[in-house]
Amino acid sequence: TQTLDLAVIPGDGIGPEVTAEALKVLHRALEGTDVEVKETHYSLGAQHWLSTGETLPADVLDDIRGRDAILFGAIGAAPGDTRIPSGLIERELLLKLRFTLDHCVNLRPSRLYTGVGSPLAAPGKIDFVVVREGTEGPYVGNGGSMRTGTPHEIATEVSVNTAYGVERVVRDAFRRASLRARKKVTLVHKHNVLVHAGHLWKRTVEAVAAEFPEVQHDYLHVDAATIFLVTDPARFDVIVTDNLFGDILTDLAGAVTGGIGLAASGNINLDGTAPSMFEPVHGSAPDIAGQKKADPTAAILSAALLLDHVGQGEAAARIEGAVRADVESRTAGEQRSTTEIGDAIAAQV
Ligand code: IPM
Ligand code: MN
Repeated sequence: TQTLDLAVIPGDGIGPEVTAEALKVLHRALEGTDVEVKETHYSLGAQHWLSTGETLPADVLDDIRGRDAILFGAIGAAPGDTRIPSGLIERELLLKLRFTLDHCVNLRPSRLYTGVGSPLAAPGKIDFVVVREGTEGPYVGNGGSMRTGTPHEIATEVSVNTAYGVERVVRDAFRRASLRARKKVTLVHKHNVLVHAGHLWKRTVEAVAAEFPEVQHDYLHVDAATIFLVTDPARFDVIVTDNLFGDILTDLAGAVTGGIGLAASGNINLDGTAPSMFEPVHGSAPDIAGQKKADPTAAILSAALLLDHVGQGEAAARIEGAVRADVESRTAGEQRSTTEIGDAIAAQV
């Protein structure tokens, strides 16, 4: 037998509710395999900060670093909870994990399942994956404010793009595209305005494309990409883009594929120097927390991405199949609880 040593960070709000279902399904999918799961749960998030003043202590981070993979729920305070400064938990916990564990690829697949309502009148067959850069861009926190609070304030957020950082993500996008049926990469950026970073991205795509002659590639400015995500999302196969554009595009992608309740993600450490982290794209949804109303599907699909990443592709495929069957059997207006959906998916794994 082999051990899958999991770090579990359920977090705040609906995070613990959906994570419990994801773990239930993950265990079911590994039944009958030689994989034994070991879970270590970490209390982290906005609530944890309120009660302890800790965001992510160094010894906890070290402990997490030693695990095989991380299953992450959601973090964040209730809107209007003024006790928690905006950005504190995001920067000091979630982004700190992504940055220190070198999660350079933020992988966000988007698929429109049969039977799931899309707000688009004619969505077509949507099945693409966004390779969002995860450790650079405007997210690095390189900026500042001068003359703060005065009419002459100047605030900057400098987007950092390194040749190394861009290239590894672009190469991963081409590698993923080469394994898919349509074999197409679309670079999304804004090189008509962001000329420095934009041209680095564009040159990198041209260079890496030469290594993948079987993969086609094209380019869209980010504003045009939002139009196509609504008018013709079926045109996309693999989108590669920077951290902030990817953040925005993947919420839109979630919306056109029937809601963020289905959107899963993986924060991938490409060279295996630290555990990768898997999380639903949605947040902690404090408004519905504790009511067993949250859809655990995004968390369950994130667990499938986790299994795929650790070499358990068959178990991952069983989860995806069970999710597909469950989602296709859903009827408009049905009211199943978080646990009922988790049980139903687990039963079909
Ligand atoms: C996401 C979230 C995060 C991000 C926030 C919470 C820092 O929106 O995972 O998409 O911007 O990456
Ligand atoms: Mn986001």
